[in-house]
This record gives sequence, structure tokens and C-alpha cells, in this order.
Amino acid sequence: MITAKKILVACAATLVLVTGGTFANTINDAIAERLKPVGTVCMAGDPCAEEAGTVASAGGGEPRSGDAVYGQYCTACHGSGILDAPKTGDTAAWEARLAAAGSMEDLTQSAIAGVGAMPPKGTCADCSDDEIMAAIQHMSGL
Ligand code: HEC
Repeated sequence: MITAKKILVACAATLVLVTGGTFANTINDAIAERLKPVGTVCMAGDPCAEEAGTVASAGGGEPRSGDAVYGQYCTACHGSGILDAPKTGDTAAWEARLAAAGSMEDLTQSAIAGVGAMPPKGTCADCSDDEIMAAIQHMSGL
């Protein structure tokens, strides 16, 4: 009986040691993360520089596809049609919008300016006019 107890105690102690060790590592990682310099320098050719290029698309990078802009900014409202936003793929609703606006350019201008409950540029503040139009074409099928 005594031996069994000893074994149990030994097991418990090992468990504490193991979990304690992992915990200490987590703390160390967290501290290292906090001690990192606030900014990191990206040299041309580094993978981080390429990432910066795609994010800052409005600054002269490749234009984002309608699909990408839609997925990031427009789907929140147009996917479900909340606040009476014309729904993605609802061709009839989009054709009516197009007819009311006059042309695809006018519809794009309306989206850029914002309309009703829709904020200007549908919250994609750094979207170019072309990127907004591509997103409209993507969700309307027009
Ligand atoms: C916060 C919700 C919301 C987001 C995000 C949003 N929209 Fe809208 N959108 C609306 C609503 C609501 C309407 C209908 C407004 C009305 O007719 O009063 C609308 C209408 C439109 C129209 C029709 C405008 C017209 O003149 O009939 C276009 C085009 C449009 N959105 C494009 C976009 C694009 C492109 C994006 C993403 C870049 C986007 N929207 C993101 C809510 C949103």
C-alpha cells in the first residue's frame, strides 16, 4: 500500500514538473514577443517586403480582384442582404439598381460615394474605383 502511494506521489510530482516546464516556456515566449522591437525593417526581396506590397495595393501595387475585395469588404452586408443591401447573385435586384443608376460607371460612383446605410466605398477606404467596380461585377453578375 505504501509503495503504491509513493508511486502516486512520484507521478504527481513528475506531472507538476512537466506542466511547469511547458508553462515556463510559454512565459519565456511571451516575454520574448514583448521585448521584440516595435518595428522591423523590411529589405527589398525579403518575404515581408512582398507582403507589404500586396497589402498596400492602392499605393501602386497590383489591383485586387473583385473576388478579393468582395470577400474582404462587401460580403458582410451583401452576402446576407442585411440593411436591404442588394444580395450577391440576386440578378433581378442588381439589374434594377443598374437601371436606376444608368450605367455601371454610375453605379460604381454611387458605391464610392456611399448610399443609404452603405458607407462610402463599402468600407474599403483604400480601394481604387476599378477595384470597387470589379467587386460590384463580382457580386452582381452584371
Ligand atoms: C455596411 C454594409 C455594407 C457594406 C460593407 C457594403 N455595402 Fe453596398 N450596400 C449596402 C446597402 C444597405 C445598400 C443599399 C443602400 C440603399 O439603397 O439605400 C448597398 C448598395 C450598394 C450598391 C447599389 C448602389 C445603388 O446606387 O443602388 C452597390 C453598387 C454597392 N452597395 C456596392 C458595394 C461594394 C462594392 C462593397 C464592398 C467594397 C459594398 N457595397 C459594401 C450595404 C453595404
